[in-house]
Amino acid sequence: MASDKKAKKNGDKPDISEIYEYRKKLKKILKPDRYEHSLSVSFTCVCLAMRYGVDLYKAEAAGLVHDCAKQFSDEELIKLCKKEKVELTDDMLKAPQVIHSVFGAVYARKEFGIDDRDILSAIYYHTLGRPNMSLLEAIVFTADYIEARRYKASRLTEIRKLAFEDLDRAVYEINHDTITYLEESGGFICKDSYDTYRYYKELIETR
Ligand SMILES: [Fe+2]
Ligand SMILES: [Fe+2]
Repeated sequence: MASDKKAKKNGDKPDISEIYEYRKKLKKILKPDRYEHSLSVSFTCVCLAMRYGVDLYKAEAAGLVHDCAKQFSDEELIKLCKKEKVELTDDMLKAPQVIHSVFGAVYARKEFGIDDRDILSAIYYHTLGRPNMSLLEAIVFTADYIEARRYKASRLTEIRKLAFEDLDRAVYEINHDTITYLEESGGFICKDSYDTYRYYKELIETR
């Protein structure tokens, strides 16, 4: 069972046996392209963690496991949330593609034995974000968008560069582009997404 991990110091040999276990498990439960995405997010998280001084193990683990509940259908996720007494807002029910992140935090604890709160909350917030995210949360949120296998978003090259220069601004730009895309395509936008957007807009405009 994973417990709260202490930050590694220079000279400590990293214990990556749990990372290997998570990979093995994910490979069994996720579709190949989703598994590939998970690996790519974990590597991107590690790069960002090096840049921003975040614990590398936590970043790698959170990135790897962030989509661990993605294999469930929307209906299955809603049922599983009811069973586990996971609170879903009306907005989440209107945009069920976000529920895998909320339930993912529970699933990562129950099925992967992860009880590190920082990792679980990075999984929980990886789709909607939240105002004033922790560095680890912002790293997973950003890595999910910029990882190397992504190619559809319009400003990827610019946002990838920005992520290593100014993480708050990268979070803002990702929110901006995601909300713009949903508005143009008629997708439902959760209030939580707007809250995240407004917070980071104000943050970068007032500093
Ligand atoms: Fe996801
Ligand atoms: Fe993802």
